[in-house]
Amino acid sequence: MTNINHLHIADALARFYTSPEAFIGLSGQAFDAHKSTVLTALDKGVSLASDYQPAKAPVTRFLEAALADAPAHPVLNAIRPFIEELHWQTNKNYHGHFEERFFENEAFSEIIGPKGMLQTDIFRAGLLLMGPEVDYPDHNHEASEWYNVLSGTGLWRQGAGEFSQRPPPTAIFHSSWEVHAMRCQKTPVLALWSWAGNMSSEAMPV
Ligand SMILES: [Fe+2]
Repeated sequence: MTNINHLHIADALARFYTSPEAFIGLSGQAFDAHKSTVLTALDKGVSLASDYQPAKAPVTRFLEAALADAPAHPVLNAIRPFIEELHWQTNKNYHGHFEERFFENEAFSEIIGPKGMLQTDIFRAGLLLMGPEVDYPDHNHEASEWYNVLSGTGLWRQGAGEFSQRPPPTAIFHSSWEVHAMRCQKTPVLALWSWAGNMSSEAMPV
């Protein structure tokens, strides 16, 4: 396995983030700033981390099903050869706030970023996996966040809005500190996420 193949993930992400499907329905100053940060960083280049370690989480029992159910996607194609190498984790800020079932049914993996398989300090990007019938209650974070749903139709809510069905390839943008929540239905949900702005702390329950 060569570095070139891992770095193909960054190339695929740069190509995808400039394609209309990636930002369908998204606009505005905050989104444009987020997109510009990500694309500038990808253009600058990322390097392969020497200390990235694979780690599974309880929810990765649904990863194969989520991948099997995902429509063809260039970023997923680039990640697939390295899917067993991903480091999955849950957010410790939620401990004591979210029910125990949540931690069995949600995890994220940082693929590009300060702690990613591919390193940059400028933004973070990776995968979010949620199991069937799981609630991801209200939470927020200072970083802005761009999601692209890759597999599974879940219910997503922003602010005081209603939960709406978000099938692939829905694109979703959360501004800095915007409260958001998700609810899965019958299938797992797999989504691509990216963070830009102040990324120094993980999300907090609201
Ligand atoms: Fe978020």
